[in-house]
Amino acid sequence: MTQISDLILEDFQVEFNTRGQQVKALRSTDLVIKKDKITGIVGETGCGKSVLALGILGLLPNYAVVKGNIHYGNQNIQNLRKKEREKYLGKVFGYIPQNPSESLNPIRKIKNQIEESLNLIYKDKDDIENKARKLIESFGFEDIDRILNSYSFQLSGGMQQRVLTAIHIATNPYWLIADEPTKGLDKEVQKDIIEVFNRIKEQGIDSMIIITHDINLVKDFCDELIVMYSGEVIEIGSNIISEPMHPYTIGFFESLPENGMKPMIGKAPSPTEDIIGCRFYDRCKFVMDRCKVENPDLYHANSRKVRCFLYD
Ligand SMILES: Nc1ncnc2c1ncn2[C@@H]1O[C@H](COP(=O)(O)OP(=O)(O)OP(=O)(O)O)[C@@H](O)[C@H]1O
Ligand SMILES: [Mg+2]
Repeated sequence: MTQISDLILEDFQVEFNTRGQQVKALRSTDLVIKKDKITGIVGETGCGKSVLALGILGLLPNYAVVKGNIHYGNQNIQNLRKKEREKYLGKVFGYIPQNPSESLNPIRKIKNQIEESLNLIYKDKDDIENKARKLIESFGFEDIDRILNSYSFQLSGGMQQRVLTAIHIATNPYWLIADEPTKGLDKEVQKDIIEVFNRIKEQGIDSMIIITHDINLVKDFCDELIVMYSGEVIEIGSNIISEPMHPYTIGFFESLPENGMKPMIGKAPSPTEDIIGCRFYDRCKFVMDRCKVENPDLYHANSRKVRCFLYD
């Protein structure tokens, strides 16, 4: 029997070898993602956020080269064979992928898509119909019949996101992993999504990983934050928004529109590029000689972990 557990990543790495190039999408990662917490993941485009999530979920394409371990309870879920893994992970994780409009099936009614998900755990047909209605209702929809009988293209972006979320928590997973749940939605709808996540929490799913560019979502909703840069985790902890410690995190927050949009000079190295030293050193205001020749570990500092020699 599975139980709710922390996710422990141990030297976990993902590479893609495409067109003769070695793309190191996720470099060696040691990380504990705690159960019963909402963990946000931020970082600029291409830094490896989705790859990290897909790696945990076991949903990377076959050609990905994956190394290291992911411990969940007493299982190394990284070692499970494909079939076992699908069964196991479907019970443990609900996953809301990055593009809701592409994730909903355009030629099947919403009703059928929710019921398909409920079918995995409930057998009685009336029971399933009732549960589908309740679920849709719990996501703040009033006109339940209309929603259930719609196709995804008949719903707005915000509605699609809510429906997709309903489908993915229908099986009562221990964890919910959502990739950019507020992307492309207008401000009002973004607020609705936060409301949706609060509802999910009330329904008892309180271990979540939320990948986002939306700092308000992190501020209002996340207990812990993981900051990534160029395929590496560079800072983990709570209160990072009010007190960022890694020089990249400081610059990243200053570059956001709500903080005056001061751009950071330079750009992140390509994932194909191996660098001697810290991957951030040529953009760093605090660069020291050591940073150019050694890659820093994650150091403990103020109940946080920071990949920077300032905290060694
Ligand atoms: N299936 C794939 N095949 C080859 N390369 C990939 C694949 N998926 C991701 N990558 C590469 O891995 C790196 C990390 O990608 P990832 O999708 O995790 O970025 P991200 O942080 O989620 O970015 P975004 O904010 O744009 O969603 C990128 O360089 C990307 O091009
Ligand atoms: Mg992504």
